[in-house]
Amino acid sequence: MIRPLGADDAPAYGEFCRALDREDLRLRLGRYVVVEDSCIRRMLAGEGDEVVLAEHGPEGEIVGVSRLVLAAEPEIAVIVRPGWKRRGIGAALVEALVATARARRLPMLHAYVLAENVAMLALARRLGFRAVQAAGTMVTLELPLGAAAARAGDAALQSGGATR
Ligand SMILES: CC(C)(COP(=O)(O)OP(=O)(O)OC[C@H]1O[C@@H](n2cnc3c(N)ncnc32)[C@H](O)[C@@H]1OP(=O)(O)O)[C@@H](O)C(=O)NCCC(=O)NCCS
Repeated sequence: MIRPLGADDAPAYGEFCRALDREDLRLRLGRYVVVEDSCIRRMLAGEGDEVVLAEHGPEGEIVGVSRLVLAAEPEIAVIVRPGWKRRGIGAALVEALVATARARRLPMLHAYVLAENVAMLALARRLGFRAVQAAGTMVTLELPLGAAAARAGDAALQSGGATR
């Protein structure tokens, strides 16, 4: 089940953070981090952000979390628990937040992904994100929404490009 993260999820969220793979965390955050209680509290607070989780089983084990950072350039990121990858969880979480972004009438979503991160680049492209910049180790992807999406579609048609 995919649902918003709530304050009651703190224990399960802490357990999820501690179960994450060190390399996965580096790919998600861009640097090595030590998961501490203070860091978990900060991530849980995430003021203003929209956060969804995927849970499994009667104990409500968290198997994936995605965050929509509501900054000037709204940004999406996601991480899936080891042992739960390639089951569609990451894509389902990002799709849920794309729907949230549409409901909030955001014009555009961004994702900032390390160039080495083939899994996230493939996932994002599959959901319609397009790479607009590759600077050094980082790739910037964009997903136009609403009117911006319509304009992007028109431009693709006019240039004879694919509109899939
Ligand atoms: C990136 C990540 C979130 C993908 O989660 P996931 O649940 O395994 O992804 P999904 O099962 O939803 O995959 C959806 C599609 O993405 C692509 N994809 C996912 N993992 C892939 C991989 N390792 N290699 C190539 N393509 C991959 C595929 O097209 C896949 O569809 P398919 O399985 O039908 O071929 C996960 O690998 C992860 O947590 N990585 C570490 C954290 C991270 O890099 N976060 C992104 C930072 S912005």
